[in-house]
Amino acid sequence: MTWRFLDFARNDNHVLRGLLNYNTSVLFVLLFLPLCAHATEVQPLAELPREQLRVFLKGYMGDWRTETDQRKGLPAPPAAQPVPTHAKRMALPHPETLDLGTMPLKDAIVRRRSVRAYAAEPLTRAELSFLLWCTQGVAKVDRDAEGRIVNQYRTVPSGGARHPFETYLLLNRVEGLVPGIYRYLPHEHALIQIREDAALAPRIKAACYGQTAPPQAAVVFVWTAVPYRTEWRYGPIAHRMIAIEAGHVCQNLYLAAESIGAGVCAMLAYNQVKMDALIGVDGKEEFAIYMAPVGKKVANE
Ligand SMILES: Cc1cc2nc3c(=O)[nH]c(=O)nc-3n(C[C@H](O)[C@H](O)[C@H](O)COP(=O)(O)O)c2cc1C
Repeated sequence: MTWRFLDFARNDNHVLRGLLNYNTSVLFVLLFLPLCAHATEVQPLAELPREQLRVFLKGYMGDWRTETDQRKGLPAPPAAQPVPTHAKRMALPHPETLDLGTMPLKDAIVRRRSVRAYAAEPLTRAELSFLLWCTQGVAKVDRDAEGRIVNQYRTVPSGGARHPFETYLLLNRVEGLVPGIYRYLPHEHALIQIREDAALAPRIKAACYGQTAPPQAAVVFVWTAVPYRTEWRYGPIAHRMIAIEAGHVCQNLYLAAESIGAGVCAMLAYNQVKMDALIGVDGKEEFAIYMAPVGKKVANE
């Protein structure tokens, strides 16, 4: 279609021919926009061979280790997304100062269930701090001479300690925080507010295919992946690695929440485009990969 249009332009239309000959930016737009539109078309599910879908679980079958961007000498991507210059940091109480999460591990494991109904009681800021630390908290960081993070150790494991996730909060009821969308800064153990939103619940519901638990939760954890952090070192097996790691993160949330009388439900039933738009990520270099509503348990449940 694009090429036929260009043939027409070259042979039959003097005005367009002139533009194509003399204005390279017009040529770029004529070529590039139709190709972009094509690239974002969604392939019908029935046409996707199962084998193609399973490639994701296996990664590349050959030896990929000499082909990575790290091996090629490309610079490592930053360990975290940049913080907008105007963003106000909101400190969180440090987990070591908190008397939370003292339930025996075995009890938390035995009692854990997916919880989809929550009490009206808000989470405290200390409880939110504890849950964030248990899921993505940083225990130790090594930096180079310029202050760049070269190694980090968190409360969850990550292949090569690449830690490809960011944590966004769709926050409804947490003491001392206005409802809205927030991002966790694990290296500072602080929050930044992305925007206030007094009418978040219907937007959450719309992004989650009408599920009722997320809009009722005190807070919804949405983890995004920034795949290049892991791709840089692990190339074609990065994607499997990232998906596995998301499970580690959410399991910590389940157990930590259980230990403070809160409930969680892991969720993948969300609309990718709507969720990415809701939290304000580009959907290409960073996109939502997993989410989990959290709230205090209803008494006797
Ligand atoms: C990867 C994953 C995705 C899930 N997605 C959803 C979801 O979108 N909605 C939902 O209600 N539950 C979801 N669940 C929760 C499961 O339905 C739940 O774990 C399962 O029913 C077992 O119950 P249990 O967690 O209480 O043991 C998901 C769980 C996992 C691990």
